[in-house]
Amino acid sequence: MKKLAIFASGNGSNFEALAAACQSGEIDAQVALCVCDKAGAYVIERAAKYGVETLVFNPKAFGSKAEFERMIADKMDSLGIDLVCLAGYMRIIGEEMLSRYGGKIINIHPSLLPAFVGAHAIQDAFEYGVKVFGVTIHYVDQTLDGGKIVAQVAVPYEGSDIDELEAMIHKAEHRLYVDTVNKLIK
Ligand code: GRF
Repeated sequence: MKKLAIFASGNGSNFEALAAACQSGEIDAQVALCVCDKAGAYVIERAAKYGVETLVFNPKAFGSKAEFERMIADKMDSLGIDLVCLAGYMRIIGEEMLSRYGGKIINIHPSLLPAFVGAHAIQDAFEYGVKVFGVTIHYVDQTLDGGKIVAQVAVPYEGSDIDELEAMIHKAEHRLYVDTVNKLIK
């Protein structure tokens, strides 16, 4: 069975969507590792609920990005990770990780890339007056929200309630991430 590592920094609803789909057999894979760079993040509780091993680290305790990425990649090597899913991991992936796991790392982003890169994509698009929002899953390279696109889904919305919009986008994210991981591991 293929093994996934999921990297997250915060809430972890995408983590949970993938973990639940693996548990139910909808995805024929195992979430073998949760990597989190923030102590106390809610994703850690979610991982415990699913019995997923979690690697929590403090980036400031390392001399450089290469050093903590080496530690993470060594752990992934020891587990035999096949696919790395970034899900709200708020860091740019560096050379060390890319040289070892490049081509096996995907990210989910809440916009129709290349529009609205960055950490506030939904709000930025909403303020811009966008009428067709969306979600993108892409391979990860050294650029912010760059890398070849794997899958996209549009979320049309003409209302004025950003909370409602965010809920719609997150729902679309969870569906698209499960479907996309399923395709990639086959
Ligand atoms: C999602 O909107 C994802 O697209 C973005 O960060 C958010 C993470 O949400 N990269 P969650 O932690 O999975 O709930």
